[in-house]
Amino acid sequence: MLRLATKYRSNGVSSWLKQPACRYGALDTSNILHARTMSGDSFGVLTDIEKIMLDSVKATGPISFSTFMQLSLGHPTYGYYMKPDHAVFGTQGDFITSPEISQMFGELVALWMVKQWMDTNVKLPFRVVELGPGRGTLMDDMLRVLKQFPATSAKLKSVHLVENSATMRALQEGKLRKASQEGNFEMMWHDAIEEIEHEEDVFTMLVAHEFFDALPVNVIEKTQQGWHEVLIAPSNDPSIKYTTPSSEFDSNPGSPPPSQRTSSRWTRVLSPTPTASGTLLGLASPRFSSLPVGTRIEVSRASMNQARNIGKVIGTQGGGCALVVDYGADKLFGDSLRAFKEHKIADIFCSPGECDITANVDFTLLKESMADLVSTHGPISQRDFLTRMGIQVRAAALARSASSPERKQEIEGGANRLVDPLGMGEQYKVLGVVAKSNGEGHDSSDVWPFTAI
Ligand SMILES: C[S@@+](CC[C@H](N)C(=O)[O-])C[C@H]1O[C@@H](n2cnc3c(N)ncnc32)[C@H](O)[C@@H]1O
Repeated sequence: MLRLATKYRSNGVSSWLKQPACRYGALDTSNILHARTMSGDSFGVLTDIEKIMLDSVKATGPISFSTFMQLSLGHPTYGYYMKPDHAVFGTQGDFITSPEISQMFGELVALWMVKQWMDTNVKLPFRVVELGPGRGTLMDDMLRVLKQFPATSAKLKSVHLVENSATMRALQEGKLRKASQEGNFEMMWHDAIEEIEHEEDVFTMLVAHEFFDALPVNVIEKTQQGWHEVLIAPSNDPSIKYTTPSSEFDSNPGSPPPSQRTSSRWTRVLSPTPTASGTLLGLASPRFSSLPVGTRIEVSRASMNQARNIGKVIGTQGGGCALVVDYGADKLFGDSLRAFKEHKIADIFCSPGECDITANVDFTLLKESMADLVSTHGPISQRDFLTRMGIQVRAAALARSASSPERKQEIEGGANRLVDPLGMGEQYKVLGVVAKSNGEGHDSSDVWPFTAI
């Protein structure tokens, strides 16, 4: 399992900069990878995704950001997460995530879930669901914790991995083979959460870590006439008469300045009239109606659907609990879309299909999407969540039994990085979700560690 390189201690920002980067985008922005700039009359070699984009524009005009993201990340053959030759995670890949930094992350997530089950529906068997499991590291760490409680693991009925990439599934299968052979439960893969069987008599524990940030977003701008969609067009196509968006870019620290954003083959244009999709997205949240003309926002219908599906699984079946962990905040974002390549933030149009693309998560939108089905808690910072769950105690225990001074350093460095107030600890947020009616006499409004202390 890839863990942090031990030479990087967690004792300052400069050491972070040498570490494999996370995707929230607060690292070294002086070194942004920009889109290929025009040299002479050439933009460089077209990626396969760009060929599809050009064909699409030729057929039906400028494309939406959600189509661009869907193609770039999820195209069955050329999408970023679909290609077998992409390392994606770790030092060889483009970024690193919390479960890959330290086993403690998955352990504490599992402990929270077991506590919810014990506090509420302990008589029911349970299943564990993960959305977007990446290399399977988080699930592996969670299953190891469950195994340590024999009475609990005896009630584990099935494990469900929601993953739409065959390449990722193969990695997960390899990682989880041993746990699945040793455990007495079924392990299943699904393309979408809707495929998971409805079960009234099973408690569900669900986790989505850095899943929502990878879902497509649309970008819309408010004008005097209503919501217009911000679209993507070839930057050198004179037949496209659309105007450029008017609103200012927000202060996303990872975004290249506007002057450098149209240096590629692609540029942002504004649909000339309000579009049906723009109008619908503008109605997605009551918060949007009071925004002033000129405001541009990112709205993810895919995230709303996924959040609603989480609500249905947890809220209308045998009860359950969920944790959604991601970067973002309890607010909307206007310009957080960015790409990642080789541990650096890249221009969004850098190399479609070759770079990861991500956007901050609007946690309020997720909560609004499931509010009638479940009880939501937070989000609180990852720092607060892990600290209240006892990460320092766990780190000390692991450090005491470390096999070498390097391993001890690695454990302590990992814990510190996960809760760093200048980095992951604050940038990542944790949203708790529980069923409104989890068990008799259970108070779903008071869920540790989301309750203010
Ligand atoms: C950024 S990675 C996070 C991986 C892992 N959770 C971690 O934190 O290390 C996103 C994961 O979600 C998967 N994914 C992205 N969009 C998806 C979708 N619409 N349905 C299912 N899986 C998806 C990707 O293939 C990948 O496994």
